[in-house]
Amino acid sequence: MNKVRTAVIGCGMISNIYIRNLKELFSIIDLTALSDINLTSAQEKAQYFGIEKVMTPAEIAEDKEIELVVNLTPAPAHFKVIRTMLNAGKHVYTEKMFTTDLNQSRELVKLAEEKHRMIAAAPDTVLGAGVQSAKYYLDSGLIGDVTGGFVSITRNQNLNSELYRFLQKEGGAIPYDVGVYYIGALITLLGPVKTVCGYAAPALYHEKELLYSENNPENWTIPGNNVIAAALEFESGALVTVHFNGNTAGSSHHAFELYGTRGRMEVGDPNTFNGTVKVTLPESETVTLPFTHGFNGMNLLEKKEWFDDYGHRGVGAAELAYAIRMKRPNRLSKEYGLHCQEVLQGIDEAARTGTVYKLKSSCTVVPLKPGYYSTLFEGTVRGDAERSLIEA
Ligand SMILES: NC(=O)c1ccc[n+]([C@@H]2O[C@H](COP(=O)([O-])OP(=O)(O)OC[C@H]3O[C@@H](n4cnc5c(N)ncnc54)[C@H](O)[C@@H]3O)[C@@H](O)[C@H]2O)c1
Repeated sequence: MNKVRTAVIGCGMISNIYIRNLKELFSIIDLTALSDINLTSAQEKAQYFGIEKVMTPAEIAEDKEIELVVNLTPAPAHFKVIRTMLNAGKHVYTEKMFTTDLNQSRELVKLAEEKHRMIAAAPDTVLGAGVQSAKYYLDSGLIGDVTGGFVSITRNQNLNSELYRFLQKEGGAIPYDVGVYYIGALITLLGPVKTVCGYAAPALYHEKELLYSENNPENWTIPGNNVIAAALEFESGALVTVHFNGNTAGSSHHAFELYGTRGRMEVGDPNTFNGTVKVTLPESETVTLPFTHGFNGMNLLEKKEWFDDYGHRGVGAAELAYAIRMKRPNRLSKEYGLHCQEVLQGIDEAARTGTVYKLKSSCTVVPLKPGYYSTLFEGTVRGDAERSLIEA
């Protein structure tokens, strides 16, 4: 199978793990070029990782050999970057959120259809061992039909935004920065959402504390709602309570529980690839279930990088690359990106108007085939998980 010539646009903090993985972990990808609005950033990363070319975004658009663009710019830049690359005939994998505006995302979906090009949207952790194994056990009927659930993530988003500065801008509030991992996982596990309702509160005004950086503004307020208490009604009939709270203290704390007609499942942190799956059935102890799938975060690459605990970042781009070669739909499709975004913006809308919001979009994330793993021989040798990306 011919490798897919790929370029990364946006060489900031998260790009290290992407560049390393796309270059060394996924054999379908030929990472030939790096780009950034600040070319020095791209040059530094190209030198460090040994990538052949550094190009401006315009040069990438003009390059006929580059088929796939991996967009790692902050959310406010996504619309223009994705539109330019689709117009240039490229397929695009984009980091979260799809865009910051639902109508812009709809425009991109339409454009991709017109251009016969695919978009894939983060989060790609839903292709990880944790969520894929949970899906496998749910589909096997282990806990029966899922009737309800509860997900929660709490963080001090103001303090985080001192370090991760893209959080100070649109897309930085907790629902869009982290909540989307939970929404993506829920959609992957339970299918499309039918309606949402809820309450919301904005982020708190923040004066810099000089804890992490001396180059921050004096003060800022993260745009958008930073606390959400919502309810989701899925097409399947499942009812799930959602609590995202960025106006609190301390480190991350999460919960992800699903309740079925035969038992209860706890899903590990969907912001990782290896969240443990625990099941409790009547008259039994709670048990941790084995992973049925690979991409468990153990990539076995020698060179460690920032965010190495997100070991398989880039799997969504690799899955898209196989979809291009196999001429099949990609799993983290434009419909998936749009549906995740509409659920979150639907909650904002429902909270603002005091009404129930009916989803217009829908999607299905086709599970990966089980039985392929990331390591062999007690975790000492790379396994065959990439093969699970080949088939539809
Ligand atoms: N940092 C994290 O922990 C993390 C984790 C997961 C996902 N993400 C997502 O990855 C994306 C990037 O995050 P980051 O932490 O690397 O941000 P960052 O601010 O460190 O880097 C973004 C880079 O994009 C470049 N850029 C901005 N606008 C551009 C444009 N129009 N064209 C070309 N380049 C442009 C900037 O110069 C910068 O180098 C965001 O969407 C974020 O939500 C970040």
